[in-house]
Amino acid sequence: MRHATHSPRRVGRREFGARTAASLAAVAAAARQVRGAGDRIGVGIIGCGGRGTAHMHVLRALKSRGEEVEIVALCDTYRPRLARAAQLTGAAFATMKHEELVAREDVDIVLVATPDHWHGIHTIDAMRAGKDVYCEKPLAHWRQLGLPERMVRVAEETKRLVQVGCQRMSSTAYAQARALIREGAIGTLLMASTGYYRIGDWGERGMPIDDPNAAPGADLDWERFQGDAPKHDFDASRYFRWRMYWDYSGGPGTDNYVHFYTPLAYMMDLGYPDRVVATGGKFRYEEREVPDTFNMIADYPDRITVLCHGTQGNDFQTLGSGEQPLIRGWDGTLSIEGAQVVVRPTSGSAKPALALPIAAGTDEQRFWRDFLVCCRARTQPESGIALNAAVATTLQMATLAMRESRCVRFDQAGKKVV
Ligand SMILES: NC(=O)c1ccc[n+]([C@@H]2O[C@H](COP(=O)([O-])OP(=O)(O)OC[C@H]3O[C@@H](n4cnc5c(N)ncnc54)[C@H](O)[C@@H]3O)[C@@H](O)[C@H]2O)c1
Repeated sequence: MRHATHSPRRVGRREFGARTAASLAAVAAAARQVRGAGDRIGVGIIGCGGRGTAHMHVLRALKSRGEEVEIVALCDTYRPRLARAAQLTGAAFATMKHEELVAREDVDIVLVATPDHWHGIHTIDAMRAGKDVYCEKPLAHWRQLGLPERMVRVAEETKRLVQVGCQRMSSTAYAQARALIREGAIGTLLMASTGYYRIGDWGERGMPIDDPNAAPGADLDWERFQGDAPKHDFDASRYFRWRMYWDYSGGPGTDNYVHFYTPLAYMMDLGYPDRVVATGGKFRYEEREVPDTFNMIADYPDRITVLCHGTQGNDFQTLGSGEQPLIRGWDGTLSIEGAQVVVRPTSGSAKPALALPIAAGTDEQRFWRDFLVCCRARTQPESGIALNAAVATTLQMATLAMRESRCVRFDQAGKKVV
C-alpha cells in the first residue's frame, strides 16, 4: 500500500450485513402491505434472442427456488426464435407484435431485450399499458436524443418502475463505496476513470446468423425490426448481427460502457455532464460500422472529470471485460479491488486507509429478485430510470462527439443535448 502511515480500518461483513438486513426487512414489511404481494408475478418478454434467453433461464431458476414468478407471454419479430422460446418457457402466448403482449392482463412486468433502438419505445408502451419494466441496457439508441428523459417523465406520470439491465449493480460494492464517499472518506470528488475491453466478438463472431436464407414475410417482420431506424432493404447481417451497424447500435460507448459507467455515476451522484469529448474509430476491425476503439472524457458541473476508455483487445476470460472504476478525491482515492472496496488517503491527509470486504458480488438472480421485491413494495430499484437516463444521455453525447469530432454540450437548465 502506498501510504504506510495509515493502517486500514476493516469494516466487517457483519456491520454492513446488519444495515442491509434492516433495509431488506423494511422492504419486506412494505411488500406485505401491497395488494397481491404474495401473488404470482407474470413476466412478458419482448426479444427472445441471446439476452432474452439468458433472462428466461434466470427466471426459471428463480421459480424453481420458490419465487412466485412466471413467464407468461413472449414477443419476437423472428418466428423461429419465438417458437424456441415458447418451448423453453412453456409460455402460452406468443406474438410478433409487442402491443399485444403489453396489453395482456396476466403480464405484470415486461422485459425488454430487443436491439437498442427499440428499448425506449417498448419501455414507454409497456409503462403506458400499466406495466413495470426491466429494460436491458442501454436505455436508448445514440441517435434518440431526449428519449431517456421522456422515459423518466412517463415513469413519473404512470408511476411505473423501471430497472435497467446493468446487473453489475447487484453487487453491494457500489452501495458500500457510495456510502463511504458520502461520509467524506476521500473528500471532495475530483475525477474518476474506468474502461471496457473485449476482444472482437462484436457481431462478426459473437452474433450468429440463424439462417442465411431468412427473408421478410410471415416469419420475419423486417419493417418492425427497423422501427424508427433509417430504412434499408433486407439484409440478414443487419438483422442478426445488428450490433455492427450504427442504425441499431452505438458500439462500445452506448453498449459496453454502461456496465461500468452506471456504477460510477451511482457512486459519485454524477447527474448530467456539461460537456463531453471523445476519440476512436475502427482501428482493428473493418467489417463492422461501429468503432472498436473508443475513448471519452466528460466534465461535470461540480468540476469533476470522468475518463472512460476502451479497445477490443483483452483476454476476456482471465482479465475480465472491464476496468473497475477508480475515483480520486481531494483527500484520497477509492477503488474496487477484488473482493474489497479500498480507500487510500492522500499523502498528509488525516483520513484513515480502509479495506472494506464487499458483502455480496454480482448475481443476476439476486438482481431479478430485488426487482420483484421492488415491484411488490413499489420502491425504486438501485439501477433505476433516473440514474440510467443520465448515463444513457452521457453516452449518447460521447457517441456524437466521436462521430462528429466535436465537443458535445448539455444544457442543464433545459435538460437537453445541444
Ligand atoms: N446486460 C447484459 O449483460 C447484456 C448482455 C447482452 C445483451 N444485452 C442487451 O440486450 C439487448 C438484446 O441483445 P441480444 O444480444 O439478445 O440480441 P439478439 O439479436 O440476440 O436478440 C434480439 C431479439 O429481438 C428481436 N427483435 C428485434 N426487433 C424486435 C421488435 N421490434 N419486437 C420484438 N422483437 C424484436 C430479434 O428478432 C432478436 O431475437 C441489447 O440491447 C443488448 O445491449 C445486455
